[in-house]
Amino acid sequence: MDPEGQQAHGSLLSARNLNKYYGGLRALRDVDVDVRRGEILALVGDNGAGKSTLIKVLSGSIIPDEGEIRLKGEPVAFKRPTDARGRGIETVHQSLGLIDELDVPQNVFLGRELTKPVAGFFRALDKAEMRRRTRELLQNFSIGLPTLNEPVRRLSGGQRQTIAISRLLLSEPDLLIMDEPMAALGVDEGQKVLDLVVRLKAKGMTVLMISHNLEHVFSIADRIAVMKNGAMVGVVERSAVSRADIVSMITVGHA
Ligand SMILES: Nc1ncnc2c1ncn2[C@@H]1O[C@H](COP(=O)(O)OP(=O)(O)OP(=O)(O)O)[C@@H](O)[C@H]1O
Ligand SMILES: [Mg+2]
Repeated sequence: MDPEGQQAHGSLLSARNLNKYYGGLRALRDVDVDVRRGEILALVGDNGAGKSTLIKVLSGSIIPDEGEIRLKGEPVAFKRPTDARGRGIETVHQSLGLIDELDVPQNVFLGRELTKPVAGFFRALDKAEMRRRTRELLQNFSIGLPTLNEPVRRLSGGQRQTIAISRLLLSEPDLLIMDEPMAALGVDEGQKVLDLVVRLKAKGMTVLMISHNLEHVFSIADRIAVMKNGAMVGVVERSAVSRADIVSMITVGHA
């Protein structure tokens, strides 16, 4: 093995030979992928192709049975999501990870609550600051919420999705991974998320985004990675392929 030689030039993250088994089912088969610094990489493939499994491995939610991951050239072995977060990788999963009974700022700051000093040695939650920063974050999406005090279960799918993405931006990650970020959204809300992703890229963030929507993929991705039956069929420059090529890679396994 020559990991230095394998690390593609300019990659933020490189994975090699990833395998993941669920009993007899091989959810990942010898998957290699490089995410280049500053790009929007779309990950596509049919239901069950292994897309979510791959991003769960890259985000520390599951541990692969085999394979290696390098971040900025250094080997990493994520055992839990906080390991990946600590290295600048934030992920929105298909299940958004919101807590229905909590309100918007409580969800946004879940697990990273802000506090302020009170009475000597004690600290208390800084609710005012969390509300202010939540409003500021939501402005990124130009989504107006009449009130931040409602439990999030009362919000629409799109509003919930927006909150799930907003909370990840607090830590200004190097790599933002999104599993079907537009799936639950109406046309307008979906477009707002696409616009946001493009703005984040302009700020230097790298984005790995799963989507079934090829129109979205072709409108923002720099490159497209296609998976089928747990294997990586290929990674192509968007400008070099047609939609028919991608559909063929998804269904037949080659362009
Ligand atoms: N926890 C699990 N236990 C058993 N099998 C699993 C588990 N998670 C995923 N699988 C299986 O692994 C394969 C890949 O699943 P995965 O969720 O990665 O697909 P996907 O490409 O994200 O599909 P979709 O587009 O439907 O979200 C599927 O056959 C799935 O049934
Ligand atoms: Mg999935």
